[in-house]
Amino acid sequence: MVKISSVFVCQQCGFQTTQFLGRCPECGSWNSLVEQIQEAAIQSSKSKVRKDIEIIDLSQLKKESYQRVSTKISEFDRVLGGGIVLGSAVLLSGDPGIGKSTLLTQLALNINSRLQNENNLERGEPADKLRKVLYIAGEESAQQIKLRADRISTDASIDILNETDIDLIANAISNLRPSLVIVDSIQTLESSGLMSAPGSVGQVRETAHRLQKLAKGHHIPMFIVGHVTKEGSIAGPKTLEHLVDVVLSLEGDSASNLRTLRALKNRFGPTDEVGVFEMEETGMKEVKNPSRLFLEQKVNAPGSIVIPILTGLRPLLVEIQALVTKTYLPVPRRTGFGVDLNRLQILVAVLAKRLQIPLYDQDIFVNITGGLKVIEPAADLGICMAIISSFRDQAINPKIVFVGEVGLLGEIRAVRGLDKRTVEAKNLGFDKVVSFKTVTSLSQAQLQVFKG
Ligand code: TYD
Ligand code: MG
Repeated sequence: MVKISSVFVCQQCGFQTTQFLGRCPECGSWNSLVEQIQEAAIQSSKSKVRKDIEIIDLSQLKKESYQRVSTKISEFDRVLGGGIVLGSAVLLSGDPGIGKSTLLTQLALNINSRLQNENNLERGEPADKLRKVLYIAGEESAQQIKLRADRISTDASIDILNETDIDLIANAISNLRPSLVIVDSIQTLESSGLMSAPGSVGQVRETAHRLQKLAKGHHIPMFIVGHVTKEGSIAGPKTLEHLVDVVLSLEGDSASNLRTLRALKNRFGPTDEVGVFEMEETGMKEVKNPSRLFLEQKVNAPGSIVIPILTGLRPLLVEIQALVTKTYLPVPRRTGFGVDLNRLQILVAVLAKRLQIPLYDQDIFVNITGGLKVIEPAADLGICMAIISSFRDQAINPKIVFVGEVGLLGEIRAVRGLDKRTVEAKNLGFDKVVSFKTVTSLSQAQLQVFKG
């Protein structure tokens, strides 16, 4: 048995100590010491010298495409890049209560039922021999998970392991060899070699590292739930991002039942795909036609316009609302929900300079309805038009959509995928697309849209 002891290591300069300190005596940085496991390093390095190492020549490797397994939730597959890759570690992050456990319970039920069907068809092994999904629950009791699973399915059969000790979990995974492992959540797991509490950076990093090695070693896909803390970095998924293959984020306004799933990192697929769900009484339901849902409640009023955005390969129509009102503050406010604030500031400056719109004494609020985040510059033209529309208190023809990046000189620049966006707009009944193809500058766009 290797003797395990832990040390606290400064993440800035590498200084080591056996005792926790708030401030590193070496480099002076605060809160930079993180507990790490130190195995009897010298002994193991000696034994490693004798072990043969293997060098792999890439040209000798056979070309293999990733083996993927469908989740049977097509919005989920889309975000993963076409299904679950065997042996991959996927981190699912999101605010508490957003629906992470619900989504993963559905995933577990789907995989189990598929295994069951395949088994019936092919092998007919006794059901207890099946390598089912293993749900490692550190947060909730099996009873609580049953309550959730019963809402989702009438025949809910999942293997639950109520355990938080990473050594016992590793043993269980190695023995059971489940077809998929779900860990809910990483913040509850602990390694007995470390003194710090579960959820601390040291614990999260160590347990995630172990899980990732298990996934790779046994070729088992692993879904790990990670909570987002307010600070983002402390014990949050940020620490884990480089340890896992895929980082997914489940987002949404807890007041609405719309949820979006996006990939922040994906070693096996694109990162700009978005999956859209609705949280219902019986679990998360896929939204097959998100554009229609996003535009359901659109009213034709000043400040409201529609833009086609592109998430991955899929065009989506979303509504942008702007509200421009006289300010009573020395510095007027610019607030954006779902849009990048820096980008909004730039666009407001361009509008003021190039179109001489007096926005210096106006508060400006911009919102993407439905809780979606729009990061692409293609939304620029739409944001500008919504602001002008609200400022002039003039509604825009509801049959127009806008596509184009706005440059600092007020010019309209090209964006990718105009054809796809146009098709989606036409499908949903819009008959005109104002884009970099039809206008070259903001002033031209303004003239075209607001006659007189
Ligand atoms: P949960 O998956 O427990 O969230 P997380 O794991 O991200 O913390 O979901 C919590 C919320 O979802 C809770 O308020 C109840 C609601 N919910 C539904 O609306 N429908 C359902 O079918 C289920 C299972 C939960
Ligand atoms: Mg949960």
